[in-house]
Amino acid sequence: GEILFDEATIADKVQELGGRISRDYAGKEPVMVCILKGAAIFTTDLVRSISCPLTVEFLQASSYGMSTDSSRNVLIKKDLETDITGRHVLLVDTIVDTGVTFDSLIKLLSERKPASMRAVVLLDKSPRRLVDVPISYRGFEIPDAFVVGYGLDFQELYRNLPYIAVLKPDR
Ligand code: PRP
Repeated sequence: GEILFDEATIADKVQELGGRISRDYAGKEPVMVCILKGAAIFTTDLVRSISCPLTVEFLQASSYGMSTDSSRNVLIKKDLETDITGRHVLLVDTIVDTGVTFDSLIKLLSERKPASMRAVVLLDKSPRRLVDVPISYRGFEIPDAFVVGYGLDFQELYRNLPYIAVLKPDR
């Protein structure tokens, strides 16, 4: 379907976000937490645009309950491998939709007493928000459309597209 953001547009935005994070986190050695699987590609590009020392961790969440329901819950399927107590945490995801994933993860990870925790999101689909979540670094606002590419899938396909497009149904 329609291409919302092409490769060059995404790269420019990633550089801009990385530049801001580099300035804000100089001397803080942040831990970048990639929310699998969707954020895998965004995270690997983003960390290469950040000039200060940092560490990278991966976390996979699995949700249960209706995907369109704010009472949906999130469990940690693959946890971090290091202790984040006292660390400056940046949660990285490609998209925030209902906000349920981020909201649950922020609550779960806050219990580990990080020094700070902020969210980095490439795409903010705010029309679908059910739970208010603070986003410190936002790439683009997008309308309520099903988007694929740059890590985002439809039935596990299309994550490898280098651009972000609206999924066009066959019929
Ligand atoms: C997608 C996306 C975000 C989450 C956002 O992940 O990558 O992590 O949904 O949705 P929310 O704001 O409504 O919670 P998904 O659960 O599809 O898993 P995946 O990243 O492995 O594809």
